[in-house]
Amino acid sequence: ETVKYISVNGREFQCDSWSNVSSKILSHLGRNLHLQQYHPLSLIKQRIVNLFYKRFVGRTGNPVFSVYNDLSPVVSVKQNFDSLLIPPGHASRKKSDCYYINRDYLLRAHTTAHQSELINMGLNNFLVVGDVYRRDETDSTHYPVFHQVDAVRLCNKNEVFRSIENGDEMPIFENNGIRTAEKQETHSLEASKIMEEELKASLVMLTQDLFGQEVKYRWVDAYFPFTHPSWELEVHHQGEWMELLGCGIMEQRILQNAGAQDQIGWAFGLGLERLAMCLYDIPDIRLFWSTDTGFLSQFENRDPYDDIKYKPISIYPQCISDISFWLPENGDYTSNDFYDLVRDIGGDTVEQISLVDIFTHPKKQQTSHCYRIVYRHMEKTLTQEEVNVIHKQIEKAAALKLNISIR
Ligand code: PHE
Repeated sequence: ETVKYISVNGREFQCDSWSNVSSKILSHLGRNLHLQQYHPLSLIKQRIVNLFYKRFVGRTGNPVFSVYNDLSPVVSVKQNFDSLLIPPGHASRKKSDCYYINRDYLLRAHTTAHQSELINMGLNNFLVVGDVYRRDETDSTHYPVFHQVDAVRLCNKNEVFRSIENGDEMPIFENNGIRTAEKQETHSLEASKIMEEELKASLVMLTQDLFGQEVKYRWVDAYFPFTHPSWELEVHHQGEWMELLGCGIMEQRILQNAGAQDQIGWAFGLGLERLAMCLYDIPDIRLFWSTDTGFLSQFENRDPYDDIKYKPISIYPQCISDISFWLPENGDYTSNDFYDLVRDIGGDTVEQISLVDIFTHPKKQQTSHCYRIVYRHMEKTLTQEEVNVIHKQIEKAAALKLNISIR
């Protein structure tokens, strides 16, 4: 029998009966939407990162969190499940729910997959941002690839009790303790509660930063194999409660296995797509993968703190035509005059106008502008002929009214 191999991110993997990742899914690797400067997912990510940089600073005001943006989404079963105490046979390991490369490797199902190795490297405060892969149906809110931000914060005894008088006499651990709804068996109640408060206060601050100070939110008890106690944070948005993130006090066994047995930690994980859909009014999760400038241009050069509302673009294809002309020699010209003229004549068939080139003739000292006009109708496919008619009208009107000369 011949052995089959699959190449992922330049690495060869031997296929087996667990392999179920398709080339269509693999084509999403390396798109790294969260790393594209003005992508909406990146804008939201920057707000989250900024908040943690600002809120947690060291002695000299330096941020203590570090950000891991580009860890490979190819992880081992050990990273994604075992290291997080997810038991063998747990529902989340099912072949029907994950994209397996083979029985030992898969595309990470959550960015939590990296927490134990990063702790092992000695990190105490970090964020992990990346693409995650889950088998799911595709509709307007589900797509098999999406993006998460995970966070971990570890504290030693002094850090936990830093603002408490006589804190140096208080323990963060206890022997022969019992696990209750409030804490793990190895933790002291005081330490667990202080960590819980810091975690919740940070996440409320994040929620208010994103949705505004008036946002309605609630904490819901939850269960994760890697945290206890665990919660979900829900926000009220457009008449509905929406789950924003999962979080909790990290299972001490994970810290012990990763060499951080003297610390206590909290962690959370949130999805970026749903956040961006709410904040920017993006109606369909597939739009994030669009390379269409009608989508991307609405976020281009924007600030993460701008209040951006996405305006739906037509489903019909774009037609692009450029126009170049010499500006009038009397200097009596502004681009905005041209933009208005294009909108007057082109109406709703014009989706975008941008200045793509400026050129000054060295001898004649004349300047020319080149504009790119993107045409797209909302209700039908425009033919290039129809576009040419409009484009010609624009050229004529510009020559007449703006005193330019077409090149
Ligand atoms: N990994 C969890 C998820 O994908 C979120 C989470 C992360 C929960 C860290 C608790 C702690 O749903």
